[in-house]
Amino acid sequence: MKVAVFGLGYVGFTTLCCLAHQGHEVLGFDVNARKVAGVNSGIAPIIEPGLGEMLLRGLADHRISAFVDVEDKLEDCDVAIVCVGTPSGPDGAHDLGFVTEVSKEIALHLGNGRTKPLSVVYRSTVRPGTMEGLIAPIFAGFLADKPGRVELLYCPEFLRESSAVNDYFRPPKVVIGTSDGEPNPVIEELFAGLEAPRFVTRFAEAEMTKFVDNSWHAMKVAFANEIGRISLQLDVDPSKVHEIFVSDTKLNISPYYLRPGGAFGGSCLPKDVRALQNIVADCGVNAPLIDSLIRSNDAHKYCLFQLATKGLKPGASVLLAGLAFKAGTDDLRESPNIDLARSLLRERYRLSIFDPAIDAGKLVGANLGYAWSWLPQFGTLLVSKKQAEARRYDRVIFANRTAGMLSFSKAQSVIDLNALSDRANRLLAPSASREEPAQPGDADLPFDVMRAVA
Ligand SMILES: NC(=O)c1ccc[n+]([C@@H]2O[C@H](COP(=O)([O-])OP(=O)(O)OC[C@H]3O[C@@H](n4cnc5c(N)ncnc54)[C@H](O)[C@@H]3O)[C@@H](O)[C@H]2O)c1
Repeated sequence: MKVAVFGLGYVGFTTLCCLAHQGHEVLGFDVNARKVAGVNSGIAPIIEPGLGEMLLRGLADHRISAFVDVEDKLEDCDVAIVCVGTPSGPDGAHDLGFVTEVSKEIALHLGNGRTKPLSVVYRSTVRPGTMEGLIAPIFAGFLADKPGRVELLYCPEFLRESSAVNDYFRPPKVVIGTSDGEPNPVIEELFAGLEAPRFVTRFAEAEMTKFVDNSWHAMKVAFANEIGRISLQLDVDPSKVHEIFVSDTKLNISPYYLRPGGAFGGSCLPKDVRALQNIVADCGVNAPLIDSLIRSNDAHKYCLFQLATKGLKPGASVLLAGLAFKAGTDDLRESPNIDLARSLLRERYRLSIFDPAIDAGKLVGANLGYAWSWLPQFGTLLVSKKQAEARRYDRVIFANRTAGMLSFSKAQSVIDLNALSDRANRLLAPSASREEPAQPGDADLPFDVMRAVA
């Protein structure tokens, strides 16, 4: 392929060299004339293992050349890859000035000599909505009289500096964002040979991916360091704690507890997080991340209540399917669903609750005390499976996997809080199959995702 790469920084120069190494002819463009001159004379603009040699080989094989001006050089290119910077603006938002400028530049130079569309692949990190709301309109404006001249793609880049070449050829994943979420043959050809899980999605999800990754990585570092600071203060060996923590690949270093869905709850997590917050305060450590966990969970509970009652009129009938923090237990202590039931009652919805694990007459001890303190009327709200299935409710709220046991005889407006998506809010056909097979280990989750009813 003949490929144009815009921006010869860490991402762009790595891309240029790696594509040339794969046998493509690559044209690099940068507004910085010094970088361009350096590349053409074999001087790498960045320090990155392997790239110096790849550049010299690419130049010798006439596969690499660099330019400041675009002119008519896009005429016979198959792909353009945009790798310009998106630095922080004064308010923290990405400054999209370089992305805007380079888009105009490409659009302007998509001359009349082309017979097929140019695939323009953006790799710069941009906020969700940028491709659709900023980039596409730029091209639409410039190419109003030449529709079909361009095909836009968004593929976030996952390479890390100092291991960029290795990461380019062995990325953790390949994410391909297209306007309709459908696969694209040009990008498949460009990424052929990269062995990695592949995801084809709409622009917005692809754009979001990079933010999730980077904030997750930042959170891991910040969390590890908060634990380290607390450990040091308590005369605990942080490296031993770390060794034990990362050895647990079932619950700790695993996909568990990472799906957007229910709030955390139950008899252990809130209690022990509060106790750790107390330790933090007690030993004078500044640990803002750990300090924010309960507040974050409370914010989420409020959001779930809003989702669950969206569009409901006051006095509407509601079935809450699942009262305990997970299906199959009668432990009501600190169940987020108790909070939800309280909010529903406070807002005067006519509430029924289905949870086969809960028998009001059999609760004892602290569990009974909690239920009586926080939802004293819970016994009168409970309905049997038969009662729940027979009635038509204004809203059925799936709050834990308990809902999978129900098979409604009447169509229901359902919201699945575990799926945390408006798409979960559906009309349930009486005959529809309701339960998605559990994923391995789902039963261990305090709140497992039960997908929306088909
Ligand atoms: N650096 C990384 O490790 C990394 C990893 C993944 C993703 N990213 C993302 O990739 C993007 C690029 O990052 P980077 O570190 O390579 O940036 P960088 O600042 O090193 O390089 C950007 C280059 O773009 C050039 N440029 C600016 N406007 C231009 C234009 N109109 N035409 C041509 N060239 C132009 C600049 O002169 C510069 O050389 C950013 O959005 C970044 O967030 C970076």
